Amino acid sequence: KVKQSKFWLGYHIAPPAGWLNDPNGLVFYKGEYHAFYQHYPYASQWGPMHWGHAKSKDLIHWEHLPVALAPEYDYEAGGCFSGSAVVSGDGMYLTYTGHNEQRDPKEVQCVAKSTDGIHFEKLAENPVISVPPAHGSPDFRDPKVWMQNDIWNMVVGSSKDGIGKAVLYRSKDLKDWEYTGVMVESDGTQGDMWECPDFFSLSEDVDVLIFSPMNMEGSKTRYMIGKMDQETGKFEAKNSGEIDYGIDFYAPQTFQDDQNRRILISWMNMWKKDMPEQTDGWAGALTIPRELSVENEKLIMKPVEEMKNLRTNQLVSTYEKEIKVADLCLEVEMVVSLDNSNKLGFTLSSEIGESIIVGYDTIEKQIITDRRGMLQGEQDLCQAHYQTENNEITLKAYIDRSSIELFVDGGKLVMTNRFYFKGDNITLSIEGEKSDIQEVSVWELKATM
Ligand code: FRU
Repeated sequence: KVKQSKFWLGYHIAPPAGWLNDPNGLVFYKGEYHAFYQHYPYASQWGPMHWGHAKSKDLIHWEHLPVALAPEYDYEAGGCFSGSAVVSGDGMYLTYTGHNEQRDPKEVQCVAKSTDGIHFEKLAENPVISVPPAHGSPDFRDPKVWMQNDIWNMVVGSSKDGIGKAVLYRSKDLKDWEYTGVMVESDGTQGDMWECPDFFSLSEDVDVLIFSPMNMEGSKTRYMIGKMDQETGKFEAKNSGEIDYGIDFYAPQTFQDDQNRRILISWMNMWKKDMPEQTDGWAGALTIPRELSVENEKLIMKPVEEMKNLRTNQLVSTYEKEIKVADLCLEVEMVVSLDNSNKLGFTLSSEIGESIIVGYDTIEKQIITDRRGMLQGEQDLCQAHYQTENNEITLKAYIDRSSIELFVDGGKLVMTNRFYFKGDNITLSIEGEKSDIQEVSVWELKATM
C-alpha cells in the first residue's frame, strides 16, 4: 500500500510500513552502510519505539532488514529510544535509551550486540547506566558513542532547570560507564532540553558538537565548532549555527565511513507537522546522506558523491522556461546571476494550480522554499537570510516526489522540506529570465526504493 502512495519517496529511506523518526546507529560495518531509525511498525503514528533497519553497499540503494530492536523489558516498555552504533572487534554494538514513563527513572541507557549485523542481543548488564547524571535530570537520552584515545566516550542529551545540555560518560568495555561531567550546555537561549547530541572531530583542531534543542527560538538543529579538552571532556565552542534551515529536518546523526568521510543523515520531518502520508499507512523518511566539512568555522554540508550515480537521463542542459515532469525524482542544478533584482530558482506546480517555489529572493536576500501555494501539508514560507560577495549563486536541489533538499553554493546553506501535491502532471518552471540563468541542468533520478 505504501508504495502506491503518491508521496512515496523514490530514493530516500522510509519505513516499509508504519512510522519513522530519528536516524539511529549509523555505521559502516563489514563493508556495508547500516542505517537504523526510530520506528513503530504497527501504525503510521508514533508508538512504543522499535529500531527499523536498512543497509546499503553504496549509500543510494537500500535494502530493508528485520526490526533490530523491540521493547522487551520493563525499563524499555515505552520504547527503545534513539542511540548510536559502534564496531568493536567483529561485533556491532547499539547503544540506546530505554524509556518507560511509568518508571523511576524514566530513562536509562542500554547496549545490544550483533555479529552478523542483522540479529541483536541485549546485554545481560542492561541497563548499563541506570541513574540520571548529577548535572542532568530524568530527561536523559540519545547516547552517541565514539572511540577516542583508546577509550569509549558517550555523549547523552539532558536538561536541568530549563537548561539543555550534553553530558559525557567514559568506558573501557561499553558496559561499565563512568560519568565525566557536562561537555557543554545552553547559555540560556539554546533550548531547555538537548536531544540527539553528536560529537566528532573533523581535523586535529576542529571538533564539532551537534544537537537538536527543544524550545529554542527560531532554531531546530544546531552545530557548535570548537575544541574538546581531552582531560575534562569540556567542549569550548568558538562558533555556532543552524545545520539546516528547512522545517522538515530534526535529530540528525553522523558517522565516519571507510574513506574517512563524516556523513550526516537526518529525520526529514519535524514533530507536530502535518504529514499527509499518514493516511497511506506510513510516515517519515530520512534525508539523503550528506558529507560534512568546515570552512571558516562554518559547517558545510554537501550531498555525497554517490548521489551522482542516481542520474539516468539529463532532461535539460540549457535554459527552458517549462519542463513537463513524468516522475518527480529529479536533481536540479542552476547557477543564477544576481545582477538583476528578481526571484531566481524554480517552481513546481500541478495541473490543479497548487505550487511550491524554491530559490533565492535577491531583494530580500533570502533563500526560500515557499509552500503557501500548496493545498495540503504545511503551507508556509520557509526562508533563511543569505548573502554572498559573488554576483552569482549555485542552487542544487534533490527533489523526490514529496521532498526537496536544497544546497546553496556547495553546501554553505541547506534547506530541507516536505511538500504534498494533491494534483498530478507536474511542471517545473524556471524562475528568472534567460539572462538571469547562467546554467541550468535537470536530471531524472533512478527510483531505488
Ligand atoms: C527526538 C526524540 C529523541 C527520542 C526519540 C523518541 O526526535 O524525541 O529524543 O529518543 O525522539 O522516538
